[in-house]
Amino acid sequence: MTAELPGSGETPSFDRDVKKLFRPMDREAMLGAFDLWSYEDVCKHATPILSELKSGGMPCDGAWPPAQVAVFEKWVAAGMPK
Ligand code: HEM
Repeated sequence: MTAELPGSGETPSFDRDVKKLFRPMDREAMLGAFDLWSYEDVCKHATPILSELKSGGMPCDGAWPPAQVAVFEKWVAAGMPK
């Protein structure tokens, strides 16, 4: 994944930084449970999503690089800004 990540001093936002981490195939695979491109859905399911990303269980075809997981974790810790 080559998406540009926010700098370590920046607070990630959903629209600018988090949404683009989810590929079209991620969104499609998970639509039965929640919409990874929906701010409301990702907020609602943030705890299991973070836990899957950290354990490497999801995405099903390979874990995210740690720097990408860190962006999602920081976004959750910041109170999930839109
Ligand atoms: C970053 C991308 C993804 C995230 C954040 C994600 C997140 C999740 C979460 C939170 C669950 C529920 C786990 C639980 O609480 O039991 C789940 C289940 C599942 N996901 Fe994903 N997913 C992603 C991508 C994918 C992809 C690419 C596939 C495969 C095409 C996939 C297939 C599944 C399946 C089959 C389940 C249900 C079975 C299970 O729990 O293992 N997901 N995913």
